[in-house]
Amino acid sequence: ETRSLKGAFLNDFYIGAAINKNQILEIDSASIKLLVKEFNTITPENDMKWEQIHPAKDSFYFDIADKYVALGKKNNMHIVGHTLVWHSQLAPWMQDITDSTTMAKQVEHHINTIVGRYKGQIHTWDVVNEALNEDGSLRESIFLNVMGEKYIAYAFKLAAKADPYAKLVYNDYNLWKPEKRAGVVQLVKSLQAKGIKIDGVGMQAHWSLEGPSIEDIENSIIAYSNLGVKVSFTELDVTVLPNPWDLNGAAVEQSYEQYEGDPTMNPYPDKLPDSAQIQLANHYKDIFSLFLKHKDKIDRVTFWGVNDGQSWLNYWPINGRTNHPLLFDRDFQPKTAYDSVIALK
Ligand code: XIL
Repeated sequence: ETRSLKGAFLNDFYIGAAINKNQILEIDSASIKLLVKEFNTITPENDMKWEQIHPAKDSFYFDIADKYVALGKKNNMHIVGHTLVWHSQLAPWMQDITDSTTMAKQVEHHINTIVGRYKGQIHTWDVVNEALNEDGSLRESIFLNVMGEKYIAYAFKLAAKADPYAKLVYNDYNLWKPEKRAGVVQLVKSLQAKGIKIDGVGMQAHWSLEGPSIEDIENSIIAYSNLGVKVSFTELDVTVLPNPWDLNGAAVEQSYEQYEGDPTMNPYPDKLPDSAQIQLANHYKDIFSLFLKHKDKIDRVTFWGVNDGQSWLNYWPINGRTNHPLLFDRDFQPKTAYDSVIALK
């Protein structure tokens, strides 16, 4: 058995997975084995987020991050840093800052320290994460409120200075949406107009069997690529469970209690039945066909987890469901969707 995702797409784009402590600390050997066999790029699912890596004003916690980078180096992987500036999973002490000068100093200290520490070792940074609203306007956050819109350019400038060779990415979800796409285009253009380096747009790609449409994704790939930056799919998964959100798609996080005991909200608590396997396989086939069509514009395709058991979609946006959104099942076996993707090559 020598086939692998990374082998199949070797001349097209990097193929990656998000990993967490189980893999980084080599606790879960089955997962590590699969990771190294199938993938050539890694992203830390949580361990480089601000609350983890910089939990107090004057203290950084690098133990896990160092091991993460060492794992990537040992296996010759393309190593991604995720993420420098994000309103979510931010350390609480940062959220108490109310003046622009203090915040700018802390952002500078954060970026210089972390990007500097891994200079030449982390190949790509998600510099700013989720800075836009669904309509493409700038999203309200502690950074926008305290520093104003300049915080984005500021972060990119600092990252470029701290490691001139790292690829710098703007990362966000729902970037297939035309209005949000327009916001990204504006953001990238405004950085470029200021002479600030940006190398890529990261489309998170938390998708579902219902969509987004291939056409919407394709239009975004083309629009971003036309700016002279590369596109990456940075957090790919395809949920097979019913969407609990409201009809406008607003991210209303529902409590588990609200749905507990409702089997229609958790239809596949054990195995994914064959009919759904095939549906997922066809969906992934369409997605990867599109990626291949635009491989000259695409840097990297990273799945948000190694296998279904690891996926955050088992606990988000409702905790306690059993999701099956990736290419490998809970026993680390390739699913029908894996075969459909590999068969494209
Ligand atoms: C998620 C992780 O997968 C979860 O384990 C964590 O509890 C919350 O964050 N957008 C991002 C990722 O950029 O960092 C998020 O990861 C998923 C959405």
